[in-house]
Amino acid sequence: MSQPKNLSLELKELVAQMQARRTHVEQGGGPDRLAKQKQGGKMTARERIEYLLDEGSFLEMSTFVEHGRNRLMDGVEAPGEGVVTGRGTIGGRQVFVFSQDFTVLGGSLGKMNAAKVVKVMDLAAKTGCPVIGLNDSAGARIQEGVDSLSGYGEIFYRNAIYSGVVPQISAILGPCAGGAVYSPALTDFILMSKGSSYMFITGPEVIKSVTREDVTFDQLGGASVHGRKSGVAHLALEGDAAVLDGIKALLGYLPQNAREQAPRAEVSDPPTRETPELLEMVTPDQTRPYAMHGVIETLVDQGSFLEIQPDWAKNIIVGFARLNGESVGIVANNPKVMAGSLNIDASDKAARFIRTCDCYNIPILTLVDVTGFLPGVGQEHAGIIRHGAKMLYAYAEATVPKITLITRKSYGGAYLAMNSRDMGADVVYAWPTAAVAVMGAEGAANIVYRREIQNSENPEATRAEKIRDYKEAFDNPYVAAGKGYIDDVIPMETTRAQLIQTFAMLKDKQEQRPFRKHGNIPL
Ligand code: HXC
Repeated sequence: MSQPKNLSLELKELVAQMQARRTHVEQGGGPDRLAKQKQGGKMTARERIEYLLDEGSFLEMSTFVEHGRNRLMDGVEAPGEGVVTGRGTIGGRQVFVFSQDFTVLGGSLGKMNAAKVVKVMDLAAKTGCPVIGLNDSAGARIQEGVDSLSGYGEIFYRNAIYSGVVPQISAILGPCAGGAVYSPALTDFILMSKGSSYMFITGPEVIKSVTREDVTFDQLGGASVHGRKSGVAHLALEGDAAVLDGIKALLGYLPQNAREQAPRAEVSDPPTRETPELLEMVTPDQTRPYAMHGVIETLVDQGSFLEIQPDWAKNIIVGFARLNGESVGIVANNPKVMAGSLNIDASDKAARFIRTCDCYNIPILTLVDVTGFLPGVGQEHAGIIRHGAKMLYAYAEATVPKITLITRKSYGGAYLAMNSRDMGADVVYAWPTAAVAVMGAEGAANIVYRREIQNSENPEATRAEKIRDYKEAFDNPYVAAGKGYIDDVIPMETTRAQLIQTFAMLKDKQEQRPFRKHGNIPL
């Protein structure tokens, strides 16, 4: 920093004092703790901010805030109060950020630490910008007792009231335990670093004393567990840098706030690119699964698909992509897993994603190849009715442009749950390989013609004939198209161009709903 030469001694001292105080804060818990933090490839709180934001764009706030005073905190020093907060830009767009500093009292959250976080959250909401939390904390600051619980409450409250106002993204880069997990859980996206982060409500020791289960931190709440089993993490990535890169990628598909549209990206992939390779991928043989991921990647702008929750509930695929540079959300059945049927986890995953797209004005493309809801006592008793209803609700509630493309089979209740015309799709397309019916031909023939089959002299021949009849009648897209449930049966080769044109047609779509305080989604 340059200074005029004729500064008074007094002013020079004041400036030096400010600089010394700032440097002290910037050193967090001191060299030893900073070195420990970096073991195993983790970054410090400040390095994470520096990596995340455009160079030189960080404007720190509340630098000199000190911890809340009480008897147990007397004489305790907490430079920066265990969290670094401020604003910056990512790709030129403003974001607010807080980064917990584990080197200062384990990044534990006290009243004033929370006040720093709350300040940036409020500024993000007022200015209509995303807020990003980089979590690495031992949780509630034990010495501050109820004040620290109150601090969490202030943050949770804002997580909830700013939900759907501005995007909120949480990175978990270290411990995140106890009730503290609920702040990330209330945000739009959770990204975890593999091997160095964990999230749980009660830790291994308490679990052992209560249920006698023996489990490590990682087995209980590591990134792989939350990426594969619980569905808590939207992305589980290798290390700090990958998580921070993931946040940047994700933000590229999102608008700054709920009043804006996501930014358009410059792309080189021609909007009229033909896709004949789809003819080889998706055959009319309903029993031959194909890679829905390949279908998605063929249709969207090259390399633009960012899958969300890729390893959880793999029978449904959700993620962001671009069509001619415009951000779209994709929901697709995955015929390679459970024949693409919908179960409890898939319903939760899709419903949440649909609502995320809707609150941030991102149009939705639904690709349908679904046999139905997964049969089973386990599913019924665990509430597939309640969970499946979330999907129906989310699609019906969404007012963004919605295009449905039936690639192959679409049966029964799942036909409706995958955004049929009646559930609010603006445009429904089908490929010639599509089949829309109440159920597959075999099941249908066995039920409708049971008596005829039983009473026949040759039941197997009759069954085969009835299955054939039913297939001819319903296993095609033309019955549904004939009744206007499908707007057009389209060639696979020109589908990309048609989707781009149709989304362009729907761009300024407005849809009003009757007044209500808020809906009552089945939870
Ligand atoms: C204050 C804490 C602290 C805490 C750790 N420290 N936890 N200070 N409040 N909760 C301090 C330590 O004294 C130490 O200070 C420094 O942080 C680093 O801690 P270590 O134990 O040396 O680190 P490590 O070995 O890496 O272990 C990390 C840890 C462990 C696994 C997170 O510290 C731990 O179990 N802490 C307690 C976690 C906890 O029970 N939190 C409350 C959860 S309940 P020095 O000066 O030595 O560096 C909760 C409720 C929230 O959060 C409710 C919201 C509604």
